Amino acid sequence: MIIAVDGPVAAGKGTLARRLAGALGLAYLDTGSIYRAVAAKILAAGGDPEDHGQAVETARGLDPADLARGDLRREDVGQAASKVAANQTVREALLDFQRRFARQPPGGEAGAVLDGRDIGTVVCPGAEVKFFLTASIEARAARRHKELLQRGEESIYARVLQDLRERDARDSGRTTAPMKAAEDALRLDTSEMDADQAFAAAMAEIANRRGPSGAG
Ligand code: C5P
Repeated sequence: MIIAVDGPVAAGKGTLARRLAGALGLAYLDTGSIYRAVAAKILAAGGDPEDHGQAVETARGLDPADLARGDLRREDVGQAASKVAANQTVREALLDFQRRFARQPPGGEAGAVLDGRDIGTVVCPGAEVKFFLTASIEARAARRHKELLQRGEESIYARVLQDLRERDARDSGRTTAPMKAAEDALRLDTSEMDADQAFAAAMAEIANRRGPSGAG
């Protein structure tokens, strides 16, 4: 079973995807961390994430161990990741890894939950269940701001809001694999939902799509 969870920054994808994977005994892949790892390596080498050749070379040489880098959650890495992610050749280079993870999850799990921007549309268009999480930009900025403060980082709400606007525009405006809901995705607006409510709504949809016997 493959479950796709797509949506913009701070809509609650990671929290939901991780919980679904835990509850259903599936493997979990945060596909954003792959683009972040490429971006982090370029920044650490003093490079430019918009340099086509460098981005492609870094993506092709990516090692799964790079997904455990300590600097992936930095805000500048997130911005650089969305620049790298607009590069079609980079996306093609990273596609195989994501599809292999979905088809043959590590640890022999019966399936996988992948979160990102294009899982339901490009990476796993045949996923059994697809979600597209949204939330107002203000709700998302407030969440991200709180998260940064909790991590002990400096954060200014207006700056976070601006960063989100830029990243949303870049991710949905790019020509290759833009962020968008698959036609058969369930849209969940989490602006007024907490993590428990989003999880309950998602589990109800999964039960619904699997049918009364729990199969299919
Ligand atoms: O989800 P996260 O914010 O960690 O992703 C970082 C960036 O990676 C996104 O802004 C987006 O540009 C890119 N990304 C993507 N496709 C995915 C996952 C992430 O383009 N499936």
